[in-house]
Amino acid sequence: MLLQVPDLLNAEELAEMRRLLAQSEWVDGRVTAGTQAALVKNNQQLPENAPQVMALRRLVLGALNRSPLFFTAALPSRILPPFFNRYSGEANHYGFHVDNAMRMMPDGSGYVRADVSATLFLSEPDEYEGGELVIDDTFGRHGLKLKAGSMVVYPSSSVHQVSPVTKGARVACFMFIQSMVRDPAQRRMLYEMDMALLQLRQSIGETEAVVQLTGVYHNLLRRWAE
Ligand code: NI
Repeated sequence: MLLQVPDLLNAEELAEMRRLLAQSEWVDGRVTAGTQAALVKNNQQLPENAPQVMALRRLVLGALNRSPLFFTAALPSRILPPFFNRYSGEANHYGFHVDNAMRMMPDGSGYVRADVSATLFLSEPDEYEGGELVIDDTFGRHGLKLKAGSMVVYPSSSVHQVSPVTKGARVACFMFIQSMVRDPAQRRMLYEMDMALLQLRQSIGETEAVVQLTGVYHNLLRRWAE
């Protein structure tokens, strides 16, 4: 399931992140790629020890924590600290790859299983040419270019690429999330059920049937969550 979270960041957060990122120095992006991915990866990344990283991560995680749409779609249990990348000039693309299944926490405290990947766009679409995030899922190939502050969430198991940026610069934040529900099909059903219940609650209120179905949602989550 491919899901957009519009305006994850508010205007102040976006401006603050862009201010911090404008002062940043970037390094070769291959530092976090697996062996296959490193062969096709050609971009830049913010190094772990960059002075802006902590503040940037705090802003992103704060925004994720207050987003009910992100919560119901990803059902997050652990989130790897977000990374930041830049595509421009010679370092301008990331060919088709699959994200590594296991990611070490930067502080060495263990692995996070990547079930859900997310890209938060930080450049406006008119600031660069090319640079679509292209994702293959069971319904075909989707190219995405969202406005700054908006995010796309997709299963980490899908093959994807960032097509070459031919003009300007594309800055984004990318994330790996371990979900309480590891199976994407189960996650999707829970998401659809939760959204349908939300609509029912708004249109007909808390009827007996709605309450009962809400119970079923939670019982499924109890059954499937780890
Ligand atoms: Ni990737």
